Amino acid sequence: MKIKVLTIFPDIFEGFLSSSLIGKAVEKGSLQVELIDIRKFTEDKHSKVDDVPYGGGPGMVMTPQPVADAIKYAKSGCMNGYVVHLTPQGELLKQQTLKELSELDEIILLNGRYEGIDERIRDLYVDREISIGDYVLNGGETASMVLIEGFSRLIPDFMGNTESTLDESHSAGLLEYPHYTRPAIYSGIHVPEILLSGHHENIRKWRRKMSLIRTKNQRPDLFDKVPLTAEDIELLKGEN
Ligand code: 6GU
Repeated sequence: MKIKVLTIFPDIFEGFLSSSLIGKAVEKGSLQVELIDIRKFTEDKHSKVDDVPYGGGPGMVMTPQPVADAIKYAKSGCMNGYVVHLTPQGELLKQQTLKELSELDEIILLNGRYEGIDERIRDLYVDREISIGDYVLNGGETASMVLIEGFSRLIPDFMGNTESTLDESHSAGLLEYPHYTRPAIYSGIHVPEILLSGHHENIRKWRRKMSLIRTKNQRPDLFDKVPLTAEDIELLKGEN
């Protein structure tokens, strides 16, 4: 997958793109990332990329010219170059969104700063707008990293074990069950006996039950959408 990142702070991405599984995927070439510095495209003699808003008010707005030229440059090396604008005004990011993005061959991530980008850029070039939550960040860059990390791991071949992306939190609408590793007793706290039993069916049921309880307690909004099976109802008997 080709990822083009448009930003005035390309340095923010360096450590992220060279570490851990993302770093390996970049090294292997399964992720091809190009960082494009919007400031390099400005025709302003002082290298400005922002200006005061028409109509007054606080903050600065990103000027259309350098943003448009950076987008055109990014698209020139692409077949169709889907443009995603990271903005708190976008649709809320969900696991399903990441799944859809993971199926693209090319993606252009447009990162705004300041109060935002000139509206005409949105009209002319943006295919989709995404927000990572109901809070405000200084710019889209950290949100872009969230997107890259989230969709990359869904690309077939990205992780050794694709089963682990099926079982995990949110994929099935439930949060994950608790995990334990050695030692069996840590700081006086025992690993639940059932996990040491080797009884796979009982372990499966216990994990399902813990997922259901955890989701009910931590995310009642998600729990309300889970289609409960007859077994789920049985597992939850006596829990409140
Ligand atoms: Cl994508 N950008 C900014 N600036 N703030 C955000 C966001 C994005 N998502 C949540 N808050």
